Amino acid sequence: MTSLRWFFFLIVLPSVYAFSLRSCHSRVTSILQMTTPQQAFAGQTCVITGASSGLGKSLALALAECGASTLILSARSQERLEEVQRECQERCQSITVHCITADLSQPESVNSLTKQTLAKLASIDLLIHCGGVSSRSRFLDTTLDVDQQLMQINFFSGAALCKAFVPKMPKGSRIIWISSVQGLMGLPNRSSYAASKFAVQGYCESIRAELAVDQQISVLERRMVSLMPRLPPEPTRTTWQVKY
Ligand SMILES: *[C@@H]1O[C@H](CO)[C@@H](O)[C@H](O)[C@H]1NC(C)=O
Repeated sequence: MTSLRWFFFLIVLPSVYAFSLRSCHSRVTSILQMTTPQQAFAGQTCVITGASSGLGKSLALALAECGASTLILSARSQERLEEVQRECQERCQSITVHCITADLSQPESVNSLTKQTLAKLASIDLLIHCGGVSSRSRFLDTTLDVDQQLMQINFFSGAALCKAFVPKMPKGSRIIWISSVQGLMGLPNRSSYAASKFAVQGYCESIRAELAVDQQISVLERRMVSLMPRLPPEPTRTTWQVKY
């Protein structure tokens, strides 16, 4: 009995402790497993909508700095896209940047964007869907036409892009769809906008579950822009590696 007790205290207990510590350690390191933006995006092919200004433009420049191989930049203005193209090429000499104008409010234009993109890229590693519009008005003053426009621009266009591109996205690729805090909560005067962003949330949650299983494509809808990765050269972590 005594030897059994010693066996327990000297062998079993330390082993269990060591084992749990180790598995705990590996879990913590895998949670904290951070990839630098350069490691995550070097050599990747990326499609960015809403790329002529704001967040879309900033992300295009950041991806160029990370050494992405090809960028497809889309927005309505060819002139502004070419400006972003030039800036990307200044940051990365080897990068290929294509500008494709598209108006997300027109389904045919979205269709043409997907066709032109697929003609240029055999495979897509990253889709960042930033293109969208906002609106503010009391719901009784908002015509149904405005509701429909917002749904087309903020939601249906993104659904069309996902359907067209996912078959060309390899395992480990990513879809980032810019949502909003309004995708979680409706506020006065924001009925159309909130509805379109709620649609984005629900859609992303569903396709994330579908795509995680077979294709291992991560789908991330960003509600808070402040969570976007910091730009190089700040050597840091990224929040992109979210797994479902
Ligand atoms: C909503 O819009 C109306 C009309 O423009 C305005 O009077 C009201 O202050 C707005 N409400 C909020 C919470 O912004």
